Amino acid sequence: MSEPAAPLQELEQLLADATGAIAQAQSAGQLEPLRVKFLGRKSRLAEIMKLIPRASPEERGEIGKRANQFKAAVESQLRERTVALAQRPTGPGIDVTLPGITTPQGRLHPITSTLGSILGLLTAMGFETIEGPELEYERYNFDALNIPRDHPSRESFDTFFVDTPSPEPKKGRLLLRSHTSPVQVRVMEQRKPPLRIVVPGKVYRPDPLDPSHSFMFHQVEGLMVDDRTSFADLKGVLDEFLRALFGANTKTRFRPHFFPFTEPSAEVDIACTSCSGVGCSTCGRKGWLEIMGCGMVHPNVFRAVGYDPERVQGFAFGMGVERIAMLKHGVTDIRLFFENDLRFLGQF
Ligand code: DAH
Repeated sequence: MSEPAAPLQELEQLLADATGAIAQAQSAGQLEPLRVKFLGRKSRLAEIMKLIPRASPEERGEIGKRANQFKAAVESQLRERTVALAQRPTGPGIDVTLPGITTPQGRLHPITSTLGSILGLLTAMGFETIEGPELEYERYNFDALNIPRDHPSRESFDTFFVDTPSPEPKKGRLLLRSHTSPVQVRVMEQRKPPLRIVVPGKVYRPDPLDPSHSFMFHQVEGLMVDDRTSFADLKGVLDEFLRALFGANTKTRFRPHFFPFTEPSAEVDIACTSCSGVGCSTCGRKGWLEIMGCGMVHPNVFRAVGYDPERVQGFAFGMGVERIAMLKHGVTDIRLFFENDLRFLGQF
């Protein structure tokens, strides 16, 4: 009498098998063979149904009922799995809680962009950009700029001298240029006036590092030479330039100063960008910020390059790029520009 119980047990086992297989199917294409396997004409279900007429009358009803239940259960599981697979996002699973993949974005270094603004404004006024060597001869850095050997004015330009013997001893020792002014001399030696040039570049001075000093920094030099160039031209160009750089309401002040290569010479101040002239810690309570040096080219400089100081006039100016970048962006330590900390650089 164990035989009649067998179809019922088998149906139970078949349902467990079908439930597992349907749950694991990953596509509608995998469901169709399961339908054929569990419900089709050659399935175990079909064979069990065929046994019904031969079963005893009591068992007949039970097997028929269980077979129908099996069929309904498998059909409904197939339907549900079909819907679930259709709604599932395709491709690999997406974990929305994972942090996104960021692509780091490069940008210009604040010194590069400040230099770009300075050169952009001056070239728009007709100045041509020219570069010169960082390894320079004493003649260009000093002598031709009216800074003779043993003259006290040389002391204000502390300099890194280079050990390598000079390839041109007549031009003096080799050094790392301490300002961009030597390029004035190089250009005037090569060309005749009229000239309007701007010279960007690195300069070197043996200063101990502190918030406002670095042994390497950047300068922009300007030079204009023509048969008639006045201090008024100089003032007009620099006023215009500083207002374009720092804002249309920027106040400027020309204060008498001494530079060996210009006469007369001046330092140019702008009203403090932090306190507008009232006096604060940025301007040392003076209300003014020193921005650049300038003046009318000294006759001795013209003589050194073979120009006749009776027939040409010119003005020159020089500014520190780091200082301007610091004032524009409110940076209080020059060393930040050279440490390459991306948390700092990413702010510009
Ligand atoms: N060369 C000067 C320096 O490094 C800056 C300077 C001042 C340049 C006056 C000039 C000038 O051309 O006319 O401190």
